[in-house]
Amino acid sequence: MPRGRARSQTIRLSRRRDTGFGRCALPMGAKVGYGRSVSDHPAESHRKAHARTLFAGLPAAYDGAGAALSFGQDPRWRRAMVATLDLTPGARVLDVAAGTGLVTAALRARYDCEVVALDQSPEMLARATARFADDPRVRTVLGEAERLPFADGEFDGLTFTYLLRYVDDVPATLGELFRVVRPGGRIASLEFGVPSGPVWRAGWRALTRTVLPLGGRAISRDWGEVGRFLGPNIEEFARAWPPDRLARAWISAGMARVVVRPMSIGAGVVMSGARSSAR
Ligand SMILES: C[S@@+](CC[C@H](N)C(=O)[O-])C[C@H]1O[C@@H](n2cnc3c(N)ncnc32)[C@H](O)[C@@H]1O
Repeated sequence: MPRGRARSQTIRLSRRRDTGFGRCALPMGAKVGYGRSVSDHPAESHRKAHARTLFAGLPAAYDGAGAALSFGQDPRWRRAMVATLDLTPGARVLDVAAGTGLVTAALRARYDCEVVALDQSPEMLARATARFADDPRVRTVLGEAERLPFADGEFDGLTFTYLLRYVDDVPATLGELFRVVRPGGRIASLEFGVPSGPVWRAGWRALTRTVLPLGGRAISRDWGEVGRFLGPNIEEFARAWPPDRLARAWISAGMARVVVRPMSIGAGVVMSGARSSAR
């Protein structure tokens, strides 16, 4: 995640055209390697249990530490993601994996909108609840992305940030997220990525294996674990779900006009689109 000017490139996908942004060796929406079906395994998986434990210890330092560990980049990435929603006044938006509410805050700063902020961590969500205590247009809800407590098409827009590395079944979760957005409604996500050029990738790997663990440890024991976990976890996800494969999964789950925008040489990835009217 080096500082400096982002070399961003926008990749547009349609149902018919391949992007050339890497190759998809598997059929659209195929489930391999990265996880098992939620419905097949009602008991909580190791991945889910780890996410709950991990975030329980992070809220106090989250806002500052998250920005520091991304070398100051992720507030900018969040703003870029929020900008893609292009909401009209009065829109109702669901912010999934809201955490302490940083995306919700960016949504409220940019748009005249109502936001429902949902997260599965009571500890993270408590921060968001406190942050928006005086804002009647934000409601916080404890819940899971895999089982949203909302009706079909209830929202005009939806965001999800740093979520998919923590779920067992990526295509099923995308289907559930998109279900609650009305046809034509906008959806945007932000995830960490791995820079694509060999030189940048080597630099990124060196940073994530040295600076992140050391920087995290300097903040607290819990952040030390995050620092050690993050680099290998981002790489595992990027191998299983490179941006072009993820974009195809979005399209399979009912999205149109999907745009992938690498941020900071690919260390962040903003993905956006509109829910198609024909499903
Ligand atoms: C890295 S934080 C991101 C928080 C915030 N969106 C941001 O941009 O800073 C990831 C959040 O995802 C939440 N999370 C992980 N898996 C989830 C799931 N299946 N359903 C809902 N929230 C989940 C965690 O509790 C955590 O608060």
